[in-house]
Amino acid sequence: MPDDALHPYGRMAALKRADELAAYIERLGVALGFDRELTAGEHAPLGQAYSLGEQRIGNRFCILPMEGWDGTEDGRPSALTFRRWRHFGESGAKLIWGGEAVAVSHDGRANPNQLLASDHTQASLADLRRALVSAHQERFGSSDDLFVGLQLTHSGRFARPNQKNRLEPRILYHHPLLDPKFGIDPGHACLTDGEIGKIIENFVRAAVRAQDAGFAFVDIKHCHGYLGHEFLSARRRPGRYGGTLENRTRFLTEIVQGVRRDAPGLLIGVRLSAFDLIPFRMGSDRRGEPEEFTGPYDCGFGVDASNPLRIDLTETFRLLDVLDRLAIRLVCISGGSPYYNPHIQRPALFPPSDGYEPPEDPLAGAARLIAVTSEIKARYPHMAIVGTGYSYLQEWLPHVAQHYVRTRQVDFVGLGRVVLAYHDLPADVLRGAPLQTRRLCRTFSDCTTGPRNGLVSGCFPLDPFYRGHPQAALLKVAKQQVKI
Ligand SMILES: Cc1cc2nc3c(=O)[nH]c(=O)nc-3n(C[C@H](O)[C@H](O)[C@H](O)COP(=O)(O)O)c2cc1C
Ligand code: SF4
Repeated sequence: MPDDALHPYGRMAALKRADELAAYIERLGVALGFDRELTAGEHAPLGQAYSLGEQRIGNRFCILPMEGWDGTEDGRPSALTFRRWRHFGESGAKLIWGGEAVAVSHDGRANPNQLLASDHTQASLADLRRALVSAHQERFGSSDDLFVGLQLTHSGRFARPNQKNRLEPRILYHHPLLDPKFGIDPGHACLTDGEIGKIIENFVRAAVRAQDAGFAFVDIKHCHGYLGHEFLSARRRPGRYGGTLENRTRFLTEIVQGVRRDAPGLLIGVRLSAFDLIPFRMGSDRRGEPEEFTGPYDCGFGVDASNPLRIDLTETFRLLDVLDRLAIRLVCISGGSPYYNPHIQRPALFPPSDGYEPPEDPLAGAARLIAVTSEIKARYPHMAIVGTGYSYLQEWLPHVAQHYVRTRQVDFVGLGRVVLAYHDLPADVLRGAPLQTRRLCRTFSDCTTGPRNGLVSGCFPLDPFYRGHPQAALLKVAKQQVKI
């Protein structure tokens, strides 16, 4: 185990035996369960099908949405996008949660290469889904139990539709920490209720397009600091969309009503930042530290206002009650934001170029995501709950995944970064093959550093395709400049 100043945390790869993992978890003082033995074959917990109404979802692996910053400028998928989606299809996972964030309008794009739901992109989005399904069929023989959705987004505060390095924020209220952090002027206009109405229409139109393109469900994205998530904390906003929780969930409710009206039969899911912490910044020792704030912190969701370094799920449960009343059964749990507290959102040993050294053992971050998910599953047993935070577990991913599915603390194990590097890990686990450890994500964060420096995303360290990609050299230069 390394014990230098910046990386005092143990490495998962060094934990060779189950006893060592158990002792490490105990020393860390977190709650994290795992199965010592893995079961493959017909009785494998991870191989069991899940029934979502009439739909059978063939196993318990889910591919989480991940963009590659590699669409065309007019919002269509590129060859790189197709490659990633084909990999998702070949992964062996039977639930594809959204593929990647697709903007419902140009001004809501998170970068000028984000996919866009529009007339001129319609055929290509249908092709993208077909490519994923065909890849799945070719490898596994059938796609009857494959369930594929599309994630719909508006990037709100983090919109960069025209230039990779220029924020064009569409905000709901002035945030006392995020405004100065991202250079948003106090005079910057907030979205009006009328503009919000137009965005709702765009979401509904995009859902109709997704249905026409063959997707079985849409995710109305409410996570990671983007617009849907910002609504949940818009207590300071006056009017119909701010203040009370009823008002803060009106955006979601009106989208759901519109989708049910215009795209009957299309299922709806919500990916949610179920908890948050106050924004972090890099401290003098390069380690993350919380931004200073005095008084109750009323600008987060799922965070304790009196101590914003602690989570508080009171309102999260009230939001889940709203989802329940709206008959939404598909929920994917995430937390925080990659822009202001990446260590809770995608735990990593090595930070991205705009991040900070981890202020906690990344295993604690993974355990937090998993524990919150279990708490939610216990209260909403009838919902199909997808968990996040498994990539950091590396060699122990299958053991933790099996434990939480077997004990019904989660329905689907969501996989993010690990499938960028090792896309068919689910297939290997399901057939009981040993993990190909050389392909395991070691959380180097290059897939985040790339886009932060205007490059495409991909697993540059481990995927031979990206290792040989012309942008690999540019990434190296960008990393040297920031000396991460
Ligand atoms: C390169 C990259 C792109 C991502 N894009 C999205 C996205 O489009 N939508 C989304 O909800 N989450 C996105 N995420 C977050 C992941 O879905 C996931 O929550 C996160 O990586 C943590 O899971 P992991 O530990 O398995 O990687 C992205 C993450 C990465 C690394
Ligand atoms: S670049 Fe590869 S190894 Fe690094 S975090 Fe991303 S997927 Fe993992």
